Amino acid sequence: MLREGDLVYLLDEKGLRHWATIKKAMIRVEGLGVVDGSKLVGKESGSIISVANKTLWVLRPGTPELMESIERGPQVIGRKDAATIVQRLDLKCGDLVIEGGVGSGSLTTALLNAVRPEGKVISVELREEFAAKAKRNIMRTDLGKNWELRIGDVRTIQLGLKADAVVLDIPDPWEAVDSATMMMKGGGRFCAYVPNMNQVESTVMKLRASSFVEIDALENIQRAIEVHPGGVRPSFDVLGHTGYIVFARRTIREREANS
Ligand SMILES: C[S@@+](CC[C@H](N)C(=O)[O-])C[C@H]1O[C@@H](n2cnc3c(N)ncnc32)[C@H](O)[C@@H]1O
Repeated sequence: MLREGDLVYLLDEKGLRHWATIKKAMIRVEGLGVVDGSKLVGKESGSIISVANKTLWVLRPGTPELMESIERGPQVIGRKDAATIVQRLDLKCGDLVIEGGVGSGSLTTALLNAVRPEGKVISVELREEFAAKAKRNIMRTDLGKNWELRIGDVRTIQLGLKADAVVLDIPDPWEAVDSATMMMKGGGRFCAYVPNMNQVESTVMKLRASSFVEIDALENIQRAIEVHPGGVRPSFDVLGHTGYIVFARRTIREREANS
């Protein structure tokens, strides 16, 4: 049941989402005007409500909607790539993940959802203004409890922890492979997200020269299908390119194992 303080969206008949945090008072909702919040308290997600003669569905957002609705700054990692990253990093409740380059916190949202309620994501971000934006985006959700945000350079930072996974979305991830290695468990999973092929090459070369195995790179292509009676075909609006994703697993070198 929906309660005061819950973040919801009101879906209109055109498919537009109008966001609101529930309170037992009149709430100003962008694109709708004023909504009586007490009408939402106690409703089940998916219920129908009526506002100013408009029919709306009140829905509790999940990770896909939260990622789509964030306040954007630098280029974000979208749903299709985040889903692949979460699955390939084998993230689960209780895992510790270190993220380099938080940006707007889009990927962070997916990482936090995968490791909660017992896991943790530590995000390292170079720039204060992006950290502040990511903080706003995460703190409007209930994902913040499992999150730590550090201002710093992931290429040099040492956290004194051994993470299950390290994921980097920075321009030069190969420069962060050494610090990532130090912060990962043996068998831990590494991921780097980059928009250009030359960045893939530099990252893979560095991983091959370091203690990583099962290194592979991929591009994730997805097409939406438009469904009309008698006319079902791929959408014309194909997102041409997002990014390439490099994955690898950390091994323990003999010298390290004996030390
Ligand atoms: C493309 S954005 C990340 C977007 C993020 N993955 C998302 O889904 O919203 C890249 C971010 O990396 C940060 N960054 C670049 N180099 C960094 C470094 N060496 N250490 C930490 N953060 C870094 C930038 O300031 C920027 O916020």
